[in-house]
Amino acid sequence: MAEPIRVVITGAAGQIAYSLINVVARGDVFGVKQPIILHLLDIPPMMGVLEGVVMEIADCAYPLVRGVVPTADPSVAFKDVDAAFMVGAMPRKQGMERKDLLSANVKIFKDQGQALDQYAKKSVLVLVVGNPANTNAFICSKYAPSIPKENFSAMTHLDQNRAQALIAHRLKVQVDKVHNVLIWGNHSSTQFPDAKWAYVEIPDGDSVSVSKALNDDEWLQNDFIKTVQNRGAAVIAARKMSSAMSAAKAAGDHMKALWQGTPQSKWVSLAVVSDGSYDIPKDIIFSFPCVVSDKKWSIVQDLTIEDFAREKLDITANELVEEKEEALSVCED
Ligand code: NAI
Repeated sequence: MAEPIRVVITGAAGQIAYSLINVVARGDVFGVKQPIILHLLDIPPMMGVLEGVVMEIADCAYPLVRGVVPTADPSVAFKDVDAAFMVGAMPRKQGMERKDLLSANVKIFKDQGQALDQYAKKSVLVLVVGNPANTNAFICSKYAPSIPKENFSAMTHLDQNRAQALIAHRLKVQVDKVHNVLIWGNHSSTQFPDAKWAYVEIPDGDSVSVSKALNDDEWLQNDFIKTVQNRGAAVIAARKMSSAMSAAKAAGDHMKALWQGTPQSKWVSLAVVSDGSYDIPKDIIFSFPCVVSDKKWSIVQDLTIEDFAREKLDITANELVEEKEEALSVCED
């Protein structure tokens, strides 16, 4: 057995963490041969709830969990961590403007970026889930200058899973037969879910493009995109709480891709620092199609961007540039 790695989950007393702890602890993310020490960070008023979560972790009797460190102190939470799930953030309350949420949350990610910088391993892989996820990841990275920018990413895998499931349902095929459905841009309603490069496995071992299999580009360019963009709101309307089980599953999928790599000819949507690929402004955290090997991602290159896609990429990139400027002005106050 390998030496245990240290994995921090922030917002550990919240609803996503309640599912995510199980995904991580049973070996879905880092592998069933990798022991872990779980660091669980939340704010002081949540320490009682967190104690209950710690009791349940013990009662799950996970063989891979070699220690649990519940804390409200970032210097303890981020100490020597190998991987960080940054879930903790303030949820949007009724009547709250997006801007107010952004101001409150980017400050959390400024502080936690500084704590990562000071206490985490320099090789730490940081996944930001708390919203506005892309911009929080940008701020977190900015305030952790000793950790490579490439180690920070934000989650659009939930959107990718939603898009993949929707296409599988429409095609009446198993969800794992559909590959390379992409999410470009921001984890917000401006994101661009793109099935142009997606393919579906067919029974004789071959594959066919989703566009050909569906034969309904009108749906792919309209209802498909809108349904994925608005799925989070639909879940809130039904559940009266935001997506949690599916967000936790997606966070596990994202970190697994980073930690273990992506299979041959399978792409994953990761919101990572833009290097200017596809004429996206540099230095925003933008969701691109990526492949991962040796814990390093690279952006899939040379996809042809037609006018339809170009317009959508520009809209979501512009939103991220605006968010970045707002976030910087809040942090520099
Ligand atoms: P929740 O409200 O149930 O839990 C959040 C937890 O974070 C709470 O326990 C809270 O006390 C804690 N927290 C607040 N400030 C903190 C700080 N400074 N340090 C540590 N912990 C802190 O919320 P839930 O449902 O677990 O969602 C968490 C975040 O994930 C929200 O921002 C939500 O919008 C976002 N989200 C992102 C998705 C994505 O696809 N990127 C999908 C679904 C949710």
